Amino acid sequence: MAIPRRRHHFFSRGRWLIPAVTVASVFLLLFFFLSILAPSPNGNRLFLLPRRDSSGENAAANAIEDSQLHVPDKGNERDIWSSRNSNLFYGCSEASNTFRKAQEITHPNRYLLIVTSGGLNQQRTGITDAVVAARILNATLVVPKLDKSSYWKDSSGFSDIFDVDWFIKYLAKDVSIVKELPLRRGQIWAPYRMRVPRKCTDHCYIHRVLPVLKKKHAVQIMKFDFRLANSLDTDLQKLRCRVNYHALKFVDPILRMGEKLAQRMRLRSKHFIALHLRFEPDMLAFSGCYYGGGDKEKTELGRIRKKWKTLHESHPDKARRHGRCPMTPEEVGLMLRSLGYGEDVHIYVASGEIYGGEETLAPLKVLFPNFYTKDTLATKDELEPFSAFSSRMAALDFIVCDESDVFVANNHGNMAKILAGRRRYFGHKPTIRPNGRKLYRLFLNKDYLSHKEFEYRVNKYQKGFMGEPKEIGPSWGVFHENPSSCICEKANNSTGGEIPHSTSRLETFSTLTNTDYEADTPEDPEVDMLLSD
Ligand SMILES: *[C@@H]1O[C@H](CO)[C@@H](O)[C@H](O)[C@H]1NC(C)=O
Ligand SMILES: *[C@@H]1O[C@H](CO)[C@@H](O)[C@H](O)[C@H]1NC(C)=O
Ligand SMILES: *[C@@H]1O[C@H](CO)[C@@H](O)[C@H](O)[C@H]1NC(C)=O
Repeated sequence: MAIPRRRHHFFSRGRWLIPAVTVASVFLLLFFFLSILAPSPNGNRLFLLPRRDSSGENAAANAIEDSQLHVPDKGNERDIWSSRNSNLFYGCSEASNTFRKAQEITHPNRYLLIVTSGGLNQQRTGITDAVVAARILNATLVVPKLDKSSYWKDSSGFSDIFDVDWFIKYLAKDVSIVKELPLRRGQIWAPYRMRVPRKCTDHCYIHRVLPVLKKKHAVQIMKFDFRLANSLDTDLQKLRCRVNYHALKFVDPILRMGEKLAQRMRLRSKHFIALHLRFEPDMLAFSGCYYGGGDKEKTELGRIRKKWKTLHESHPDKARRHGRCPMTPEEVGLMLRSLGYGEDVHIYVASGEIYGGEETLAPLKVLFPNFYTKDTLATKDELEPFSAFSSRMAALDFIVCDESDVFVANNHGNMAKILAGRRRYFGHKPTIRPNGRKLYRLFLNKDYLSHKEFEYRVNKYQKGFMGEPKEIGPSWGVFHENPSSCICEKANNSTGGEIPHSTSRLETFSTLTNTDYEADTPEDPEVDMLLSD
């Protein structure tokens, strides 16, 4: 994909002044023209025109006709702004009758402290799991300490980001939570520091942590991320959902600013897409992927890559094949257009530094001219209280992405996962997860396919990756991404009660297997650093 570097030069500012039809034809003609010019992956070129006619003009006209075709199967056009049957499912996280009150089980002399790790969203998973770990141990939780030294460097504490009083109060029946470790005999005392393995089960906590806790009375678990097993009994899973979806609320200034941004998107159009785009130089260098930027890219990313001494030689092809390379902004744009989101759709882009900057973004802006970010929606003054803190900026993006009608990410990091789970819980709002393994091939062969064929395939490969109810099995993925114990199905008529999703018939797409998805985040501190967000 060498195209992004050049294409935007052909489009000048003020394009929106020209009538839309002209713009579309100019764009499509240029697209056609550039497709011919662009080198194909194998060096030999073959551009198949969409239809019988071979003159450039008609091909462009045909392409326009094609681009209006949302889904190839016209009789069954999907509503691009909502999920099928989403009204039959709802989030359910109330405790069962047998779940005892915190006051009845908390031991007076057991304090659990944790220090989170990673970026805002990784920390969020840690906080959620810490509440459950305290519950397993019948301990009092001390409000978690946030990681300040990670890749994302941010000095914010818990109460700078989350409403701490709400957090304590909301969970009062589940776990007793205090702001500070109480004094002991009038003295400040140090908790005993330890670590637990990844994905530690409730048994694991009882075997490893409980004995220490009984002896030392206060235990601090360091680097608390993904330290709790994925599968737990239903009441503990529901507690996870109460924490993540209800107890963790951003502080008012963050909430207000986030809502303001979302409102400004809505004032501009009825619906909008939010895209979480990760394309930082560090991340690309680390992933070892290649984006067609020639020697310049190889040298630049190669230099960054040397920062990690333990990294193997990069295998760009292998990484792509396994769906591990973040899609380029252009690829995301092409995918969205193929899924039926037109040029008039408004898009909010949440991103950090983009490798190649404006040049890399240009093709996406051509596909979606109504392109917004925090910085275009708000003034410098409005953002000033947040801009020096990566977590607060990430929180603003989180809110807008959460509010969006359709959410899509080009990566499979923590923010993408948490938002996917959250959007399932709150009504299955469409959440597009690019099927990287399948799409990578398609993009590789883009120049050999007609527009229509390309569109057809994108739609085919994205089946089961759109955030619809039951598109993945209850046991699939990490809990934060697929909170199946907290999704209930309404009985289809007034006579019945709720049917918990996890015990209902497993209704996955027959074509979908676990291997269609990427593996979980590997256990490697450096990988954490980059993939965590
Ligand atoms: C926690 O308290 C409950 C109720 O008293 C008890 O059944 C359970 O064994 C306790 N667990 C631990 C780890 O202390
Ligand atoms: C619910 O019932 C209606 C007809 O009463 C039916 O068309 C629909 O498919 C049912 N939905 C589910 C999820 O069973
Ligand atoms: C409603 O549910 C009852 C019992 O579950 C079933 O017998 C009946 O056929 C259902 N009616 C409709 C319209 O789905």
